[in-house]
Amino acid sequence: MASPVARFLLPAAVLFLAVLGSAEAGTEAAAALLEFKRAMLDVDGRLSGWGGAGADPCGWAGIACSAAGEVTGVTLHGLNLHGGLSGAVCALPRLAVLNVSKNALAGAVPPGLAACAALEVLDLSTNALHGAVPPELCTLRALRRLFLSENLLASEIPAAIGNLTALEELEIYSNNLTGKIPTSIRALRRLRVIRAGFNDISGPIPVELTECANLEALGLMQNNFTGELPRELARLKNLTTLFLSKNALSGEVPPELGSCTNLQKLALNDNAFTGGVPRELAALPSLLKLYIYKNQLDGTIPPELGNLQSVQDIDLSENKLAGIIPGELGRIPTLRLLYLFENRLQGSIPPELGQLSSIRKIDLSINNLTGTIPMAFQNLSSLVNLLLSDNHLHGIIPPFLGANSKFSVLDLSDNQLTGNIVP
Ligand SMILES: *[C@@H]1O[C@H](CO)[C@@H](O)[C@H](O)[C@H]1NC(C)=O
Ligand SMILES: *[C@@H]1O[C@H](CO)[C@@H](O)[C@H](O)[C@H]1NC(C)=O
Ligand SMILES: *[C@@H]1O[C@H](CO)[C@@H](O)[C@H](O)[C@H]1NC(C)=O
Ligand SMILES: *[C@@H]1O[C@H](CO)[C@@H](O)[C@H](O)[C@H]1NC(C)=O
Ligand SMILES: *[C@@H]1O[C@H](CO)[C@@H](O)[C@H](O)[C@H]1NC(C)=O
Ligand SMILES: *[C@@H]1O[C@H](CO)[C@@H](O)[C@H](O)[C@H]1NC(C)=O
Ligand SMILES: *[C@@H]1O[C@H](CO)[C@@H](O)[C@H](O)[C@H]1NC(C)=O
Repeated sequence: MASPVARFLLPAAVLFLAVLGSAEAGTEAAAALLEFKRAMLDVDGRLSGWGGAGADPCGWAGIACSAAGEVTGVTLHGLNLHGGLSGAVCALPRLAVLNVSKNALAGAVPPGLAACAALEVLDLSTNALHGAVPPELCTLRALRRLFLSENLLASEIPAAIGNLTALEELEIYSNNLTGKIPTSIRALRRLRVIRAGFNDISGPIPVELTECANLEALGLMQNNFTGELPRELARLKNLTTLFLSKNALSGEVPPELGSCTNLQKLALNDNAFTGGVPRELAALPSLLKLYIYKNQLDGTIPPELGNLQSVQDIDLSENKLAGIIPGELGRIPTLRLLYLFENRLQGSIPPELGQLSSIRKIDLSINNLTGTIPMAFQNLSSLVNLLLSDNHLHGIIPPFLGANSKFSVLDLSDNQLTGNIVP
């Protein structure tokens, strides 16, 4: 039987060893962080509190720790840090978050970051990082959010990206990325967000992308994508945002997009799409923005678009659309912007447009419209811009046009209109 003294000493010794163990881990963590800091230039002294005798890194600026005192996060956002990045931080075995966004860090993304095996969030965005996206990063099996946007990265997207099977968000916009989207992307079944606009990525929008069934936002604007849109985009039932503007996409706007029932923002402007505006888009119950301007569309405007009950902006300008403006468009109570300028539209302006109670901006200029300006336009109390120039309108300008609203732009020039405009 143990003596009372031994009974007292044993737990104390265990406690002592535990404290020693965690102090040792703390010292190692402190050393790793100080080495990570050495690669950076802390010009404003924002990390001057780091270090100090026997200091516990859990109390340092930007450091998050678990209840057990292990460093789990390093968040150094917007601290005007210069210099470069070091992989030394990966000596922290529980590091889940490394976020150095919005600094002035230059140099390469160290391939050594691949040693941060527990990493779930890597945010290096808004810095001046050069060179390649290291393929080694694709071994980070726990990575959920990879943010590299707004740097100077110039490489292809690594073919191994498909190995990041935990990835939910991929933000790599505003770099100099080239090459194609790797087909291995199909393996990223948890991916919800891809923002890769403002790069120089080329090739087609790969059909494999449509296997990322949880995709909610796909942003690929201002790249050099070519070819037709895969009709399989219809698989993406959770897609809310599809931004493909400013590429060189061609072929028809797939009618199948009408099956992406959660779509809110569809931007296909500044491409080379041909054919008509698919009437199937009218089935999108949540559509807010429809931008297909600056393409080569040569069909007619489907009257079914009047069934859209939440849309705010419809911009089909700068195409070759023919036929009439369907009066059904007047049935959309939420419509704020209707731009149909620079097309080949004929017929008269439908008086039904005078029922658009939310409309702020109408631009129908540079078409072949005839007839008069509907008297009902006098009722549009939210209207601030009305542009109808370069048509064949005639008759009198409605005498109270603008009397109920605050026009900032009214251009009725190059028509055969008579009458006065309310000052
Ligand atoms: C990085 O930190 C900033 C500031 O706290 C935050 O706004 C941003 O969302 C973080 N990035 C990620 C990917 O969580
Ligand atoms: C992706 O992971 C697999 C399985 O671990 C591995 O065999 C393959 O080499 C990895 N691919 C790349 C390009 O790293
Ligand atoms: C990135 O691309 C821009 C525009 O194409 C170019 O001016 C710049 O030199 C490129 N930067 C790098 C780091 O490649
Ligand atoms: C889509 O979103 C719903 C609701 O947020 C979610 O339950 C579902 O798993 C998501 N994915 C697919 C493929 O529908
Ligand atoms: C876009 O890609 C085409 C070939 O597909 C190429 O000729 C052209 O130079 C590229 N444009 C830009 C801006 O990179
Ligand atoms: C405009 O419409 C008129 C009458 O429909 C037609 O005669 C004329 O050719 C059209 N002009 C253009 C440029 O389409
Ligand atoms: C303007 O609105 C009023 C009230 O809703 C309506 O009675 C009137 O007919 C409208 N005017 C025109 C020209 O449509």
